[in-house]
Parts: sequence; C-alpha cells; structure tokens
Amino acid sequence: MIITPATKLLALIGDPVEHSLSPLMQNAWIADHGLDAVYVALPLRSADPAAAIRALKDFGLAGLNVTVPHKEAAALAADRTESPVANVLRREEDGSFSAFNTDGPGFLDALSEAAPDWRARVKRVLIVGAGGAAQGIGQALSPFADTIHFANRTAERGEVAAAALPNGRTLRWDDLERGFGAADLIIQTTTLGMKDQPLYDWPVALCRPTAIVADIVYRPLETDLLRAVRGRGLTTMDGLGMLIHQGARAFDIWFGIHPDTTKARERLTAALA
Ligand code: ATR
Repeated sequence: MIITPATKLLALIGDPVEHSLSPLMQNAWIADHGLDAVYVALPLRSADPAAAIRALKDFGLAGLNVTVPHKEAAALAADRTESPVANVLRREEDGSFSAFNTDGPGFLDALSEAAPDWRARVKRVLIVGAGGAAQGIGQALSPFADTIHFANRTAERGEVAAAALPNGRTLRWDDLERGFGAADLIIQTTTLGMKDQPLYDWPVALCRPTAIVADIVYRPLETDLLRAVRGRGLTTMDGLGMLIHQGARAFDIWFGIHPDTTKARERLTAALA
C-alpha cells in the first residue's frame, strides 16, 4: 500500500508490544478491505499514560488498541467509556475519543466458536489466575454462570477479582484439584505454560468428561494443559480465539466492517509456526 497524508493511523499501545500479533492481524484485514489505513505498535512507557493517550488524540490517530498495563489509563483518557478498563479507543468526528472493551465479548465469541452449546453446559466456572485477563473474562461470563471461582497463587488478588462479581468465589491454590473436578468450564489465564515460563502439573485426570478447557496462552498454541485434556477427548479453546475475536470487534468499531476471523486464524497460526 502507499501511505499518503490521508492515510488513517491506528496503533496498539502497551508495554511490551514488540511480540504482538495485532499489527499482522489488523493490517491484513485493512488490506482485505482495501482501506487507506495503517496499524502500528507503539511501546508506551510513561509516568502519566493517560496524558500520553490524550496527546495521541491531538495527533489525530483514528483508533487505538490498548494492552497491558494501560487499559485503565485508556478509559480515563477517553471522553466517554463503556467500561473502566478499555482495550479500544475510537476517534469521533468531533475529535473526541470513545472507549470500549472488546476483551470480554471477544472471549464469549471465541467460546461460542469452540463450544457452540456452552450456555447449556456451563454452570460452574473455574478461572485460574486473577490478573486483568481473568477479571475481564469473569465479568463476561458472570451473567451466564451459577458460580465463578478464581484460583490464584496470591490469594488476596483472587479475593479482589471474586468480590467484583455477584457470583464470584475464591478457591485456594492448594484446592486446584477440587476445582478441576467440579468445573464445567476451566480457563487458564496465568503465564504458566507460556514459552520460557514454568510448566505446571495440572490435575487434568480429575476433569469431568463434559468439561470445556480454555487456555489464553498462545505461545505455544498447544499448551501442555490443552494437549493433556485433548488426550482425554475434552472440548478445548486455544489462546488465539480471544485475541482474534477482540480484534475483530475492534476493527468493526473503527471501520463498521466485521472482518474475516477464519482468515485471521490461518495467518496467525502460520506466523506462530
Ligand atoms: P494479565 O493482566 O495478562 O492477566 P497479570 O495481571 O500479570 O497479567 O496476571 C498474571 C497471572 O498469572 C496472575 O494471576 C499471576 O498470579 P499472582 O497474582 O500470584 O502473581 C499468575 N502467575 C504468574 N506466574 C505464576 C506462577 N509461576 N504460578 C502461578 N501463577 C502465576
């Protein structure tokens, strides 16, 4: 493509962003639709990230994706927001920024793809971890589940995550076995199993045969956890699902077009291989 003064600029901001798959995914969709736009990754290290984000508005950026650790700052920097934690910003015609959160809905899209009948199957949810991703997923699932248990290495953080949901509960890290045995849906949101990070001996032998198991780690795409539960014939959801669907919803917010998520999966799988 040829970049001109009219080309719309979109960016991912966060720290780190160097290994993000979003530029590949978003620029390919931009090309699919022949749009005059470009999507770049900007590492943002600032003592006042909200001020830095407002400055991007002054530079006329058309839209932003926001990742760790700036999602709260993005919501604060926006002129209006649907959530206190935002991963998408859109510049409006009057120059103001609107903020959105597509992480939770993106997770539900991906879950519906992996297990179309999940709503009938899922009553008890176990979320392993209690970071930003775990909290967003818990919020999205809360209206559809009886209970959402958080099991986190640091118990206090699990308690904070659970207290934010009407049906939030905590489970001691030592009780993971019990949690795995009781859950209809298990979501692994920690860095365990990620490339260059520690592995964990997940108690998969205790999983119900009808359980759905999701891992948000996508490097590697088949984590030890997913390999072990697939070996037992369980339904699984890998880490690309949420990444692709939150991105597709962001693309729709910026351009009013829902892009091809199947093509995105082919491209990202090739990039990870
Ligand atoms: P994100 O916002 O992407 O979810 P995060 O806030 O850094 O990232 O959260 C990382 C999660 O991985 C946390 O739940 C963390 O547990 P702690 O709250 O105890 O730090 C979890 N985690 C990271 N390394 C871990 C390990 N070695 N064992 C167990 N949990 C781990």
